[in-house]
Amino acid sequence: MTVHFIGAGPGAADLITLRGRDLIASCPVCLYAGSLVPQALLGHCPPGARIVNTAPMDLDQIVAEIAAAHQAGHDVARLHSGDLSVWSAMGEQLRRLRELGIPYDVTPGVPSFAAAAAALGAELTLPGVAQSVVLTRTSGRASAMPEGETLANFAATGATLAIHLSVHVLDRVQAELVPHYGADCPVAVVFRASWPDQRIHRATLGTLDPAIGEGERTALILVGRALAAEGFDESRLYAGDYDRRFRPVGTAPRFPE
Ligand SMILES: C[S@@+](CC[C@H](N)C(=O)[O-])C[C@H]1O[C@@H](n2cnc3c(N)ncnc32)[C@H](O)[C@@H]1O
Repeated sequence: MTVHFIGAGPGAADLITLRGRDLIASCPVCLYAGSLVPQALLGHCPPGARIVNTAPMDLDQIVAEIAAAHQAGHDVARLHSGDLSVWSAMGEQLRRLRELGIPYDVTPGVPSFAAAAAALGAELTLPGVAQSVVLTRTSGRASAMPEGETLANFAATGATLAIHLSVHVLDRVQAELVPHYGADCPVAVVFRASWPDQRIHRATLGTLDPAIGEGERTALILVGRALAAEGFDESRLYAGDYDRRFRPVGTAPRFPE
């Protein structure tokens, strides 16, 4: 018996890995984080599967469900939105399973920042503009930010920021970032990336209207010069004169075949 933690992707039902889909189909028990996991994915569960929405449950109740499946020898598909490596609450579940000696594995998913970048048709790391992406959030009721992980500190690097869980505090985000990026820095707020009702709002830090953050909370705020840059360098990777292992160039290539 194994608990399969599966990244369910950002929303579109076909943005899940083949491995994730096949694992769902093989498990007689499916626990899913109902607030963001698309219902359509549950259609992959086998007939008669026990399907449990964990949104209204606490950690003890979730672990009790898993322990009961373990007792019965039933594999469990555990679905969380996006990828499991960020803001999935997987860490605390894995710790409980280790304590109980219940085996598990993890299948990655498409994270929402990647779905948002795809919706924008944007590369977040453009040569000479930004070579880092910071996945971050602002502090919330359930999670304070560790000291040092401030927007201002990240902004000081000039990296592209992918700010999660923060669309309701756009005014704060704006105020903290303008001194570092400037009022003309591009911003995109992508609501429900990859869902049928996806919405994109483009602005600059100066023109961003914080009121757009009222209501829908499933949104990602992307900030950085890479979002609207046109005058960036081409990467050396595809430069005609760039000698590399997979495309030796010249009479004395660095990596002879
Ligand atoms: C609890 S976190 C889950 C993050 C998820 N594990 C991931 O890989 O993206 C929820 C936050 O992720 C962002 N998010 C999740 N799905 C999204 C989507 N489809 N479009 C835009 N933002 C999304 C929002 O900022 C939301 O508040």
